[in-house]
Amino acid sequence: MRVRSGMLKVGGVALFVVGLAVGAGAQGIQKGAASGAVTRPAAAAKTPRRAASVPVTAATPPMGWNSWNFFAGKVTDKDIRDTADLLVSSGMRDAGYVYVNIDDTWEGKRDAQGRIQSNEKFPDMKALADYVHSKGLKLGIYSSPGPQTCARYEGSLGHEEQDAQTYADWGIDYLKYDLCSFIPQVMQKQAPDDPAGQEKLMRAAYEKMHQAILKTGRPMVYSLCQYGWDSVWEWGPSVGANLWRTTGDIQPNFDRMSEIGRGQAGLAKFAGPGHWNDPDMLEVGNGRLTLDENQTHMTLWAMLAAPLIAGNNLTAMKPEIAAILMNKEAIAIDQDALGKQGDRVFADGPLEIWAKPLKNGAKAVAIFNFGESASEMRKDNLHLKEMGFAGAVTARDVWAGKDLGKITDAYKVTVPRHGVALLIVR
Ligand code: GLA
Repeated sequence: MRVRSGMLKVGGVALFVVGLAVGAGAQGIQKGAASGAVTRPAAAAKTPRRAASVPVTAATPPMGWNSWNFFAGKVTDKDIRDTADLLVSSGMRDAGYVYVNIDDTWEGKRDAQGRIQSNEKFPDMKALADYVHSKGLKLGIYSSPGPQTCARYEGSLGHEEQDAQTYADWGIDYLKYDLCSFIPQVMQKQAPDDPAGQEKLMRAAYEKMHQAILKTGRPMVYSLCQYGWDSVWEWGPSVGANLWRTTGDIQPNFDRMSEIGRGQAGLAKFAGPGHWNDPDMLEVGNGRLTLDENQTHMTLWAMLAAPLIAGNNLTAMKPEIAAILMNKEAIAIDQDALGKQGDRVFADGPLEIWAKPLKNGAKAVAIFNFGESASEMRKDNLHLKEMGFAGAVTARDVWAGKDLGKITDAYKVTVPRHGVALLIVR
């Protein structure tokens, strides 16, 4: 555990953070994974057992869309309705993207009874939920355990039960709960220079909202957002989390996206049905990501069994972006019922080979080229033996949409700069 002081940028707001224990940011994960530091028992082992008849919330990684990556603070009721319509007409809903999540900046003031109101951008949250539900979709919302959210709107501190009940009354199906001002306002104030004490306060705050949600009786996916601090993957399930962010914020550029994706190596054992590592929402279709980069992004997230929460502007989605987001085989890899996150098998500089076990005994194998020029793999083999295959395998190239027949460990494919070849082998 390292202690770090300095500025933390979340939601475009800089928070000054003093003496906080940082179990892992993006770099922390890479370090931990490389040094084998992530060795504590899998959180799954500590997850309370459920009766067989109770369906697991988020049995596969949640899929949907979230307003932050494209609309940020400008999102309105109309944007959410348009998105709901477009999720249906584009085919995304039927491909699995069912959660429509309103991120930060919907919050208004509290009324005389302390009940949270939505602000003028969202005139009637219940009506919006009804609309979204009428399209066969689910509605998500966002808050913070602190007094304010990252964009400095009203948080839930001291109103947890009331807020959870309000969300349930509106018909909310998913809550993203973002640490933000809880750091300076509670953790640093109540436990200055005490990383262990701060961690305890943070966990208690997440458990408090978990209990508040349970009390409403309405199932909600519970999404922790605390940037991967204090090895959240080890304790997320114990506070009811269905997913937890493992890193700081993603950005729509290749360096940040690939840094986050590669940094997930070593975290596979902490994910499973009902509880997932969340390397942040998709930027597919955003910024200046090229087609190869968008394919790499989608492949990385699918290999990681990551939540697939799109964040693009659906009113202007190009067909090639729709094709990436809706590639059935890539989605099936992500959503595979075995619920096993993939991991890196081999790396040779910028060339990395990752494998993900699938329920039917096959494996998804991704050959990434994070480098600046095309790779022909030259001396790099597939490393099939490390994946449990003795000899030749039958393979299919997902992005090419082509069966390859039998291939051996010596299989070569040209992987473009920042691109990927995604195979299913059996
Ligand atoms: C933080 C989160 C983002 C987003 C913003 C909203 O930065 O990590 O995903 O929710 O807050 O303010």
